Amino acid sequence: MKTVISKSEKETLNLAAEFAEGLGAGTVVLLTGDLGSGKSVFARGVIRAYGVKQAVTSPTFTLINRYDIPPSPAIKSTQTHAIPNKITVKPAKTNLSGKFPFGKNPREGFPNNSPLRKRGGGVADGVFDLCAIYHMDMYRLEDITEAYNIGIEEILDDKTSIKLIEWPERIAALLPKGCVAVNIKKVNDNTREIVLGKS
Ligand SMILES: Nc1ncnc2c1ncn2[C@@H]1O[C@H](COP(=O)(O)OP(=O)(O)O)[C@@H](O)[C@H]1O
Ligand SMILES: [Mg+2]
Repeated sequence: MKTVISKSEKETLNLAAEFAEGLGAGTVVLLTGDLGSGKSVFARGVIRAYGVKQAVTSPTFTLINRYDIPPSPAIKSTQTHAIPNKITVKPAKTNLSGKFPFGKNPREGFPNNSPLRKRGGGVADGVFDLCAIYHMDMYRLEDITEAYNIGIEEILDDKTSIKLIEWPERIAALLPKGCVAVNIKKVNDNTREIVLGKS
C-alpha cells in the first residue's frame, strides 16, 4: 500500500501517469472514492500516459469507453496484477475512436485483427500485447443485466487490455481476484489522499 497526497488535479494526473507505467496487459484497476473525488481525473492520467490523443471523456452515461492502443513491442507486457514496478513504456499513438463500438454482441465492431474477435489466437501463454484501455463507470448501472449486456465478462477476461473501473462496488460479484485498487479521498477542495494497493 502506498499513500500519496495530491494538492491539485495536475498532481493527480502526474501520479496516474507514473502509476500507469507499470500496468500489465490484463490488469483490472478499481477506482473507488466519493463523487467528485477524482477517479475520472486519475483514469484520464492513465489513458493519456499511453499516448491516447483523443478526448478522454467520463463514461458516466456511456458506462464504458474504449481506447485503442496500436501494437508496439515497447508496451508488450506480461499479465500481472501486482502493484506496478517501474518499467519503460513508450507512449503509443492512436487515431482510433475511443467510443465503445458495440451493442449487445461484444464482438461486434471490433477490427478484424482484434483479439476479442479471434479468441486465443496466436498469443503465447502469459504474455500479451496491450491493445486497449477500457474506462468504465458503473455508477449508473441499473442492474447487473446491463453489465452483461455490455459484455462485461468478456472484457474482464480479456488479457490484452487494461480495465479502469469507477464504482466497481456495483459489479463486485463479477470482479476477478488480484485487482489493483486506487482509493481517493477528498481532504479539501484541492487536496486528495490517494491510496494505491491490491484489492
Ligand atoms: N488533487 C486533485 N486531484 C484530482 N481532482 C481534483 C483535485 N483537486 C481538485 N480536483 C477536482 O475534483 C474534480 C474531480 O472530478 P472527477 O474526476 O470527475 O471525480 P469522480 O470521477 O471521482 O466523480 C475535478 O473537478 C477536479 O478538477
Ligand atoms: Mg467519474
